[in-house]
Amino acid sequence: MTRVLFVCLGNICRSPLAEGLFKQKVEMAGLSDHYHIDSAGTSDYHIGELPDPRTRENAERNGLSLNSRGRQFSKADFADFDIILTMDRSNFRNVKSLETTLIDDIAEVRMMRDFDLRSPGADVPDPYYGGERGFQDVFDMLDQATEELLRYLEKRRLDT
Ligand code: 4NP
Repeated sequence: MTRVLFVCLGNICRSPLAEGLFKQKVEMAGLSDHYHIDSAGTSDYHIGELPDPRTRENAERNGLSLNSRGRQFSKADFADFDIILTMDRSNFRNVKSLETTLIDDIAEVRMMRDFDLRSPGADVPDPYYGGERGFQDVFDMLDQATEELLRYLEKRRLDT
């Protein structure tokens, strides 16, 4: 079982969308039994909330329903997941600052756009304060990056 966690600041825009897109691709590939998929926010701003209505509407227009509830990232996630994908450099730093050297902390922490072939390592911009265009841009970015992430994780799973 490969355990995958997507992380942003609020857990209501970028990471729940990445979670939904990745789940959809895993399901379409018939691989659901091989993956545990979740998302979290580094902040406690939106615990228990559904994704932002603009994120949900944009996802619906693209054929994807999002129903996850916001939760805050915690240190336990380093032991509970194999790979953690952060949406931007600020999330990356916040997650890394909580990492320990405990033997159980096995998660690999990566930037989501390490898997975006067009712009490796870049930030997924926060669409929260922007317009509708921002939400579709983020959708397209995460659609491509989650596709590439699945390719990478499947190769790794089948090689080991
Ligand atoms: P997210 O977007 O990190 O992609 O979920 C944000 C959502 C809420 C806030 C910031 C970013 N906020 O400040 O409330």
